[in-house]
Parts: sequence; structure tokens; C-alpha cells
Amino acid sequence: MALVTMKELLDQAKMKHGAVGAFSVGNLEMVKGAVKAAEDMNTPIILQIAEVRLPHSPLALMAPMMVEAAKKSSVDIAVHLDHGKTLDVLHQALEYGFTSIMMDGSTLPFEENIEKTLQAADLAKKYGATLEAELGLVGGSEDGSVDEGIRCTNPEDAKVFLKRTEVDALAVAIGNAHGNYPVAPRLAFDVLGAIGKITDAPLVLHGGTGITPEDFRIAISLGIRKINIATASFDSLTREAIKYLGSEGKHDYFGLNEAMVKGVYDNVTQHIRIFNCAEPL
Ligand code: 13P
Repeated sequence: MALVTMKELLDQAKMKHGAVGAFSVGNLEMVKGAVKAAEDMNTPIILQIAEVRLPHSPLALMAPMMVEAAKKSSVDIAVHLDHGKTLDVLHQALEYGFTSIMMDGSTLPFEENIEKTLQAADLAKKYGATLEAELGLVGGSEDGSVDEGIRCTNPEDAKVFLKRTEVDALAVAIGNAHGNYPVAPRLAFDVLGAIGKITDAPLVLHGGTGITPEDFRIAISLGIRKINIATASFDSLTREAIKYLGSEGKHDYFGLNEAMVKGVYDNVTQHIRIFNCAEPL
């Protein structure tokens, strides 16, 4: 098994009427935990990192680790740059061997979003990489620094956007948001259904943390083929680290390392289990 493009995994997901999990990582322990979970579940995954995370987790250090982990894995893994804002960072990621990029022009006016996405499409094509874009506005923000309001994707706009950009995957806004939801969200499945009717393109659900297993399954049945999970892994890692440091006896880095890996492993395993059993309940 190997480093593969995201498109290959999206195509497989479509054939199986399922969705592939895209798990955000920010350090060695997160990469190890996510890959081990995928291998133990014998399920392909996407390893991803968002541009906004790079001040904490520099691309020059993360990228070689993510790409190498994918190459050495016993399952297929795509390596993806999540929420790219600048062509420069997308270009760097591709040079490091990422097989997929996202151009997030969702805060831009429609025409500017299309223009930026087309520039990213040219870049992706040169590297044989997959391209994801976003239309509408997913709420919250990837690192919690701003609270973007939710603007649901307009299905008619999605049709035009997909025709003009021919992206491989489209992130939609259906009431989902990044970060922890104060209460479980009420996703706009009518909007998702309307988008699914006008296109065969794989759709992406951001803000996966806190969405219920039942809602994941409904979303998958309506055309979601990639599901992004970040906060739940960061939180699970932190909980395990706190538990370890609060436990009896001596503590050292190696024990802490194992606790962090376990935190991510548990969360990724739990989500893969839901995504692999995609029939609506
Ligand atoms: P969560 O942090 O809510 O899981 O969202 C992840 C995400 O959508 C990354 O792009």
C-alpha cells in the first residue's frame, strides 16, 4: 500500500457508498496515532494539515513526516493540505510530495473564489494532485481565532462553480462548523440533498467533531465522500496526556508520547468505525 492521491480514495469511497476520514495532525504523535488506527482497521485515510496550523507545526517538519508515514503504511493514505489560503503554501506542499490540496476561497466573493480555485487547479494539475475547494461558508474557524458565521452553500451556485472549476471535491456548508459545537448541530440535509441531485462530484463535510453517528450516515447517503476531523483528535490527545500526567508514579517523555499516540488512535478508530458502516441507522 502507499501514498495515493485523494481522488483515488474518493473514487473508492463513492463505489462503496461510503466516506473516507480526513484526520488533521500537528505532531509526530498525531501522525503515528492516525496511521496506526488506519492500519489496525485496514482502512485508507487522508492525513491533513491546515495552513493556519503551520505556525505551531511547520510544513518543513510536518510534510516529510506525513509523506513518509503514508509511503511506509500498510494501507493507502493521501496527504492533503487543508484550507490553503495562498498559492505559495499550496506550491510548497506539492513540492514536499502532498498528493492533494484545498484552495479555500470561501470568504471571497463568488467570482474571486472561482478565480483563485482555477489558479490552484493549474498548480494541482502540474503535480497530478487532487483539488478540493469550498463554496458557502463553514462556521467557526480552523484554529478558533475567528468565528465565521455559517452561510449555507447555494445549490445553483454549486452547479456553476463545479462546471467552471471542475474541482475533484467540493466542501459544502450545511450548518456545520469547525471546533466544538455548543450543542449538536442541525445539519441542513435538504440543502445537501439538493446539491447531491445536481452533481456527481464528491462532497466534503468539514467540522466533523461533534456530529452524531446518525448524521454522518445520512450525510454519506446524500453524497458526502470525505469527512474532516480535527478538534476531536486534539482534544482526545490532550485528555490522554492529562490522564497520564495525573496518574500515580513517575512520568517521562516516553510515557507521554504513548499517551498522546493513544489519544489520537482512539479517536481515529472510533470515527473510522462509523464511516465504514455508512448505511443510515
Ligand atoms: P473539526 O475541528 O470541527 O473536527 O473540523 C475539522 C475540519 O473541518 C478541518 O478542516
